[in-house]
Parts: sequence; structure tokens; C-alpha cells
Amino acid sequence: MAYQNILLEQKEPGIYLLTINRPKSLNALNDAVLDELYHAVGEIARDPGARVVLVTGSGDRAFVAGADIIEMQDFSAMEAKAFSEKALRAFRSIESLAVPAVALVNGYCLGGGCELAISCDWILASEKAVFGQPEVNLGVTPGFGGSQRLQRLIGRGRAMEMLMTGRQVKADEALAWGLVNHVYPAAELMDKGLEAARMIASKGPVAVRLTKQALQLGQDMDLFNACVMESDSFALTFSTRDQKEGMRAFVEKRPARFQGK
Ligand code: CAA
Repeated sequence: MAYQNILLEQKEPGIYLLTINRPKSLNALNDAVLDELYHAVGEIARDPGARVVLVTGSGDRAFVAGADIIEMQDFSAMEAKAFSEKALRAFRSIESLAVPAVALVNGYCLGGGCELAISCDWILASEKAVFGQPEVNLGVTPGFGGSQRLQRLIGRGRAMEMLMTGRQVKADEALAWGLVNHVYPAAELMDKGLEAARMIASKGPVAVRLTKQALQLGQDMDLFNACVMESDSFALTFSTRDQKEGMRAFVEKRPARFQGK
């Protein structure tokens, strides 16, 4: 598929960069972007050589400044529902992607943008990043999962504050709140993202995939059953060549050469 609103590139073997590319609208998410996003994640999912995806926004002002207000303004309730469901499908595909997805937040990360970022597995931010759920300013609720994922990530009180006030949360506060993992100078964000991606790509690929799956599945399970599920994943890794190679390399005091098998 030829994309008009996103860029999908493989920066290095197994390392994908997915960029929301509507800088004139601060990368606002419209219907077409959501279709392309879902399709692009499907492309990555079908690549057995995929190791990690970095998700970012085009330009130096915004990650994503929200769902597209111009497109939404005249929606009927059922059109809004269809739009929301399209976003939920795209974001769920990122969450359930077998390989890790890391958001590189390079500016405004508002509304649907914040909801996209928190659908990724973790967030690296530039010092210019600004987070917020300003839907209440527009007379609407979040529609792309923000009221649910945010409270699971940063706790109910902080999520309530962001969602009820619409206030903008800057990078240092987002770091203190555990919304982002690291904050870097803007000029370093992409390099730091690639550094993290290379680190992930150097690990046992099956182990990385199963570990992500264990965290994703486990968050909605009771602790006992979640630990049983983890135990099954652990056992499954012992059927892989990567486990034999990883442990042999440790014993032989050399770097492992993983094959993802
Ligand atoms: N939708 C559509 N266009 C948007 C947009 C959005 N969410 N955010 C910014 N733009 C457009 C602006 O309309 C403007 O376009 P023009 O040049 O054609 O006028 C361009 O991007 C630049 O924006 P500004 O001139 O407003 O730039 P600024 O520096 O003055 O302000 C901003 C930046 C604070 C991010 C401001 O643009 C803003 O508040 N944007 C809207 C943020 C928002 O409310 N997001 C939530 C949307 S609702 C949502 O996402 C619901 C949901 O959960 C699904």
C-alpha cells in the first residue's frame, strides 16, 4: 500500500520507524491516517524479521496534536462511534503487535496523540514534549481509549486530573509521573530511540516477543493465572534454538548469536 499520511521505513534490519506525517495539521489523526496506521502495523506484524517499531510524528512541533477536529466537527453520533472504533482497532493492533513499540514523543502529544503514545509499550520524550487530554475543552470525552489506558498507566488520581482539567503536562512532570521512561534534548531523541531499538534487536527475538505477550496478557488476569501463563512462556522458550544459544554463549563467555528460532 502506498501511504499518503504516514511514513513507514526500515531504518536498520528489523527496526521499523513509523511516522505520522501531517505536519501542517500537527499530525492530527483523521480517518485516512487511522486506516494507514492499521495497515502499516499489519505489515510489520507479517514480517518475521521485525524486532521493534519506533512511532513518532513528523516535524519538530508535534508527535500528534489529537484527533482531527476539522474532520470531526460535523460528525453524527454514529460517525463518531465509527471513527472511535477505527482508532481503537489501530491502537489495539500496536498493543498486540508481537514486537515492542516505543513512542518517540517530540512535541505536542494531545488527546488522540496521547492515546496513541500510551498504546505503545513505553514512551521516550524530548524536552519539548507536552502531554494532555484536552477533550473536555471541546465538549467531548476521550474516544481512543484515553480514559482507560491512562489510569492503568499513571494511576487514577493523576489520570483524573489530566482528563478533568485538560491541563498540559510537560516532559519533566510526565517523567515524574511515570508517563514517560526517559526525557532527552530534542536533537537527541531519534538517536536515543534507535539506541534503544538496537538494544532490543540484539536480544533473543522469541524471548522478547513472548515477554511482551506475557505483560500484555497478564495485565488483565489475576496474579496466580498470570504467573502460570508466564511459566508456560518460560517453558516454551526451552524449545527454541535461541535458548540453547543464549545459555551456551553465557557459559562460553561470548556474545550470543540469536536467530529468532
Ligand atoms: N485537529 C486538526 N487540526 C489541528 C489540530 C487537531 N487536533 N491541532 C492542530 N491543528 C492544526 C491547526 O488547526 C492549525 O492549522 P492551520 O494552520 O490550517 O490553521 C495547525 O495545526 C497549527 O496549529 P495552531 O495554529 O493551533 O498552533 P499553535 O502553536 O497555536 O497551538 C496546539 C498548538 C496547542 C497544539 C493547538 O493547535 C491545539 O490546541 N490543538 C488541538 C489540541 C486538541 O484539542 N486535541 C484533542 C483533539 S480531540 C481528541 O483527540 C479526541 C479523542 O480522544 C479522540
